[in-house]
Amino acid sequence: METLTAEIMTEKNPILKTIYERRAVRSYLDKPVSREVIEQLLDAGRMAPSAVNKQPWKFYVLTKKETVKQFSDEIGKVAAKHFHLSIVSGILKATDAVFHGAPAVIFITAPKDNEWASLDVGMCSQNIMLAAKSLGLDTCPIGMVKFVEDAPGFSKLNIPHSENVLLAIIVGYSKDKPSVHSRNKKNVSYID
Ligand SMILES: Cc1cc2nc3c(=O)[nH]c(=O)nc-3n(C[C@H](O)[C@H](O)[C@H](O)COP(=O)(O)O)c2cc1C
Repeated sequence: METLTAEIMTEKNPILKTIYERRAVRSYLDKPVSREVIEQLLDAGRMAPSAVNKQPWKFYVLTKKETVKQFSDEIGKVAAKHFHLSIVSGILKATDAVFHGAPAVIFITAPKDNEWASLDVGMCSQNIMLAAKSLGLDTCPIGMVKFVEDAPGFSKLNIPHSENVLLAIIVGYSKDKPSVHSRNKKNVSYID
């Protein structure tokens, strides 16, 4: 795999090191994440830039095992209606196809009428994921949660109609160490 220029610096620079070490983790130890750690992650998210400093994100946090599992199953079933049969059987066969056995889930929403919200939430999410990595935890962004609005338990989240569920971040202590995907470097044009 081609080495990225900044990768050479990772031993000297803890931020670059964290950026390079973050992976989408889909296998977690059965170990809860404390409320204190969750608050540290949310504070990191809250430090993200946002268009016109609107800070449009809102967080809905699940930390109870049974509730995480319930939403994972329900979202998986709704999602299965939208995918090809070959993918559907995988989703339905997996024990926890959406939240991958993570002990905590952070749903992130933003007002429907904010045209920059997806970008803002993306930046907020990356802050959360890097903060988690730096504190010894791992994460995975879950776009599949866009189907949560059709899940039977949706009303339990108390998310107002004015908000869109844009992403969830699953958080926990990793069971494995996924390998790094190669990164495409042929996506830049320098204009003289
Ligand atoms: C917006 C977004 C949505 C994603 N949705 C899912 C998802 O629903 N389920 C999942 O397992 N991974 C999801 N991922 C994780 C990606 O598959 C992962 O980031 C990608 O394969 C690159 O791997 P890396 O994060 O380890 O570098 C999502 C990532 C992003 C950025």
